[in-house]
Amino acid sequence: MRKEGPFGILVLNQISKAGLERLPAGRYVTGKDIAEPDAILVRSADLHGRDIPPSVTAIARAGAGTNNIPVAAMSARGIPVFTAPGGNANAVKELVLAGMLMAARNLGAAQRFVERLDPAQPQLEQAIEDGKKAFAGFELCNQTLGVIGLGKVGSLVADAAIKLGMNVLGFDPDITVDAAWSLPSQVQRASSVEDVLKNARLVSLHVPLVPATRHLVNASNLRLMRPDAVLLNFSREGVVDDAAVVAALAAHQLGGYVCDFPHAGLLGQERVVALPHLGASTREAEENCAVMVADQLRDFLEHGNIRNAVNFPQVSMGRESPWRVAIANANVPNMLGQISTAMAQAGLNIHNMVNKSRGEMAYTLVDVDSAVGEPVLAQIRAIEGVLSVRYLPAAP
Ligand SMILES: NC(=O)c1ccc[n+]([C@@H]2O[C@H](COP(=O)([O-])OP(=O)(O)OC[C@H]3O[C@@H](n4cnc5c(N)ncnc54)[C@H](O)[C@@H]3O)[C@@H](O)[C@H]2O)c1
Repeated sequence: MRKEGPFGILVLNQISKAGLERLPAGRYVTGKDIAEPDAILVRSADLHGRDIPPSVTAIARAGAGTNNIPVAAMSARGIPVFTAPGGNANAVKELVLAGMLMAARNLGAAQRFVERLDPAQPQLEQAIEDGKKAFAGFELCNQTLGVIGLGKVGSLVADAAIKLGMNVLGFDPDITVDAAWSLPSQVQRASSVEDVLKNARLVSLHVPLVPATRHLVNASNLRLMRPDAVLLNFSREGVVDDAAVVAALAAHQLGGYVCDFPHAGLLGQERVVALPHLGASTREAEENCAVMVADQLRDFLEHGNIRNAVNFPQVSMGRESPWRVAIANANVPNMLGQISTAMAQAGLNIHNMVNKSRGEMAYTLVDVDSAVGEPVLAQIRAIEGVLSVRYLPAAP
């Protein structure tokens, strides 16, 4: 059926105003009490076990991961789950730069030393002069930074390090074409994680936490690092074996560890800087993510286009006709044949069409030359393997 009235967006978290403003009043109603929402917009709200109303056609998470969303269950209903990949990458990059500087110049320990000084002591200046010797550091310029994982964050870190005058050694066996294009040509290609660990003074990790990357840095490969090397983990807790790091620091096999995950075993450790998961905590990152997912949601609700859904292919088709049908279906043979036959039997002439698949999911956009009636939509919905059908006539 043609959607009557504005789209309803159930907003389950505080979402940046900049994002909500992309959904204009009149065409959209947003709020936490929408009875039959067309879509759900979340940040951290846990949707596992929560009743997702049948009216919902999309879920958008204003962030990067989807741990709080039952993606498989949504796929089974033909519902795309949108995220904002890279929306927080600059925020993480800047924190990594801060982390490198904190380690190189011993800023955490130096700050703690100053805080402990007695402001009333008569020899304050002398105490400062005597104390500062303990915090002499090194400069980043001309040092080698190893970057493991050259995706949205890693490629920005590599670029910033080159601009600081560092040498960069990068490793990513599955680098995307886009990321490869955006890397500065000066980045040298490493052949393995071990190659990076052996040859860099600082090593920064920017990989997802998946079974293959759990304890990517561990007791056996930490031994390859220089004793004065600094390891930075702004990926996820678990990518590094923290117990092995603490042991390597104690044995003077590693110079320092900077991370965004203050696991209990790291607290109070010398030469560890542990931050309270601040990577994406900037107003700008929140805004970027909210704007990205709001734009994606709008393009999907009004035109059926799919960008950055974790469970669907990227599908985008410019409007050449006012009458569009969007179909999500299982990726099995002869779906297109059945859909086009149903349309032809209803006297509909297909003007333009795109069909893409990703894993078990396929998605089709069909523009036709005349208005589409409910009976043919019902007929397409009844085809085995069809998960959802939406009629998207252009707004008058
Ligand atoms: N600290 C924070 O607050 C914060 C914020 C955002 C992201 N993150 C973390 O940072 C990670 C990277 O984010 P992103 O946006 O750059 O993700 P991304 O998907 O753009 O990039 C990840 C890259 O890692 C590569 N990779 C995967 N396995 C690898 C391996 N074994 N060795 C080398 N490279 C490997 C992939 O090919 C990909 O290019 C995220 O997965 C997330 O866990 C943390």
